Amino acid sequence: MLTAAGRPSAAVIGATGGIGAAITAELARTHDVWATARQPGATGQLGAGIRPWRLDLAAPAAEVSVPAELESLAVLVLAAGAWSAGPVAAATDDDWHDTFAVNLFGQVAVTRALLPALRRGRGRVIVINSTAVQGSPGGRSAYTASKAALDVFARALHEEERDNGVQVSNIYPGRVATDMQKAVAISEGGAYVPERCLSPEAVAQTVRFVVDLAPVAHVAELVVRPPYRSPHEPPGSQPARDSVAFAAKNASA
Ligand SMILES: NC(=O)c1ccc[n+]([C@@H]2O[C@H](COP(=O)([O-])OP(=O)(O)OC[C@H]3O[C@@H](n4cnc5c(N)ncnc54)[C@H](OP(=O)(O)O)[C@@H]3O)[C@@H](O)[C@H]2O)c1
Repeated sequence: MLTAAGRPSAAVIGATGGIGAAITAELARTHDVWATARQPGATGQLGAGIRPWRLDLAAPAAEVSVPAELESLAVLVLAAGAWSAGPVAAATDDDWHDTFAVNLFGQVAVTRALLPALRRGRGRVIVINSTAVQGSPGGRSAYTASKAALDVFARALHEEERDNGVQVSNIYPGRVATDMQKAVAISEGGAYVPERCLSPEAVAQTVRFVVDLAPVAHVAELVVRPPYRSPHEPPGSQPARDSVAFAAKNASA
């Protein structure tokens, strides 16, 4: 179903973030984009024609209020997230709860609220996960556990909704040059070197790749990394096949 402007609708959850803003700009070329932010007016800088939607993922599920005009959704991108560092011995219950509130519970709540629109639009859900789920979880257990749980949620959603025309793709970026990556570098005691990270636009290109596929093609997983070793990886620890900047795996029709 198309909007009055003759375009399909998309929603980007976390549109004000480094990655979310790049995805919003990319999708706005072809879609009417609903862009979420916690602060009113925060989506104003994202470009003309972007539709603002105020949403706090840490609020109770009952507070997710879908804009009435959003009847049909072709693309939903879950691009919000909260970083959390600290060893198990030091991370508090609040640290764990706050991280899961944003990285899991809020994403589940907003997706559930959008399911009728996604079914009507035979939409694609694109989940921005992280290569953290594949790496060492030490020092970042709350973050990594929340992303691992998001992964299970996304795979279950695909299984349950594919016969309704809704399909779910998971994108796992490595380090991306955003404010979150600055916080990661600080918590690791290292330097933030944006030149050794993916650009947010590179992640947006992977989203575009998935969005432009024929509906018959389901991409289950895409891993996208910078071609460099991360600061704590000893030489040779990264398999050669991972040093390409864009690696599709498990694409299935
Ligand atoms: N940067 C990386 O290296 C990297 C690597 C792999 C995966 N990722 C994942 O990519 C996604 C985007 O990360 P990023 O690097 O773009 O981070 P970012 O620049 O820090 O942006 C985070 C986004 O999440 C939103 N958010 C945070 N708490 C929220 C809440 N309670 N309710 C609603 N929205 C909330 C922020 O909205 P406000 O503007 O309202 O705060 C912002 O839009 C995250 O899921 C992250 O885990 C990032």
